[in-house]
Order: sequence, then C-alpha cells, then structure tokens
Amino acid sequence: MRTALTREVSANLAQCELSHVERMPIDVEKARLQHGLYKEALAGMGCRIRSLPADGDYPDGVFVEDTAIVFDEVAVITRPGAVSRRPETSSVRDVLSRFRETVPIESPGTLDGGDVLSSGRTVLVGSSRRTNQSGIDQLRSILTGHGYDVRAVPIRQCLHLKSAVTSLRDGLLLVNREWLDSSCLRGFDILSVDPREPFGANALRIGDRLIYSDAYPETRARMESAGLSIVTVDLSELAKAEGAVTCCSIIIDEK
Ligand code: GLY
Repeated sequence: MRTALTREVSANLAQCELSHVERMPIDVEKARLQHGLYKEALAGMGCRIRSLPADGDYPDGVFVEDTAIVFDEVAVITRPGAVSRRPETSSVRDVLSRFRETVPIESPGTLDGGDVLSSGRTVLVGSSRRTNQSGIDQLRSILTGHGYDVRAVPIRQCLHLKSAVTSLRDGLLLVNREWLDSSCLRGFDILSVDPREPFGANALRIGDRLIYSDAYPETRARMESAGLSIVTVDLSELAKAEGAVTCCSIIIDEK
C-alpha cells in the first residue's frame, strides 16, 4: 500500500515565497480545484490520500514535499531554508512518525525536500539557496549507515534540484542541463527537456507511472517516445507560487 501525504491550499497562497518567478495574482479557488484533481490523479495510481488541513499562517504549506524525505528505513524531517516555512514540519513529523522512525535536520543545517532526489541507493542533493552544506552533511550521516550514496549537486537559476532533474524510471532521469552540471549525474541515462520548456524537468514518479504538468507538451512527447506512461494535470495556479507536481505530496511506501 502507498500513501500520498498532501496539505490543502492555504487561503494565503499568494503570500508565498518566490525565488525565480515573478509574483502574479493567484486564484486560490482555482488552485484548490487543481489541487483536488492532482489528488485524484494520485488516487488513480493507487495512493491512499492523507491530506493535512491548510494552515493560513503558512502560505507555502501545500508544498509539503519540502518538509520531509521518506526512505524505506527512516523519515528525515527537514529544516527548510526559508525561515517562514520551518513551522510546517511539525504536523508532517506527527503523521510520518506513524510510518517510520523520524530524524530531524538540526541548526545550522538547512535542507528542503525539493532538493533531494532518490534513485535506488543513490541520493542526489541540490546545493541551493535553500539547502546548505551542513544540511547535506547531516543527510549523508543519517543515510550512510543505511547503505546510501549521497551526492551533492550544485544547481543554478532554479529553486530546487527537482526543478532541474527528476526520475522517470530506474536509471533514467529527466533533466534541464542548463540548471545543473550533468556530469554530477554519472551512471544515469538522461532525457533532456525541450529547450522551450525549461521548467519541464519536474515529473512525479509513482511506481512505473508518472504525473506530469500539461504545460510542457514538447517534453511530454519526448517522454512518451521513450515508452513512459503519463497522466497530465493542470497545476498552473500552483506554478505561479513556484510549485510543481513533486512539491505537492510526500509518497510513503508502507512496509
Ligand atoms: N513557493 C515555494 C517555495 O518557495 O518554497
């Protein structure tokens, strides 16, 4: 059984943190509708949905991915790089502690879940404005004993590592090479985004299927040519808050 942990959209979404996109008006009701369809897509892929209530104090709370990273052995509770987002972690930790031992990232470390991409026993960690060296070192020390190889990947011009690279299937990554040094991805095959779709490298893998934004048709065509099974969703309002498909859930494979 697989659980998808989500959080409802805050009425204050428009006050979200922004790093690389311009602030634009956000229609919260439309964002909620799109988020509901996203949850339906997750349910359609066999996930049991566990949704936390929105908390108006935390505009970015819907981007629950940044608060924790769940491995088979342990759930790492992050210390988000944006100070405004740090209180989001406690309610997530409370839920995850029912599934896994939880281990926190401590000060001075910062780590956003959006900067962590696991593929098999390899864990790529973005060195970003949100994730610092102490956060990376703490994650490595938590995971090394469980047999993971933790690799730092410097990123540029984007918010998180998973803005620039996500996993499509075992051994195959979807990548925007402009936003990272792809030599850090040694050992993986790479499918590049269409150059007209720089934000198109974020896909959410659920088993052997993918949830993907409908905003990147050229890249989607490349993915379909590679034989991938894709369900598209419209997350245009959440994209204005610098969110994408991986940001809105934490996937927990139940043991
Ligand atoms: N608005 C998404 C984030 O900055 O964390």
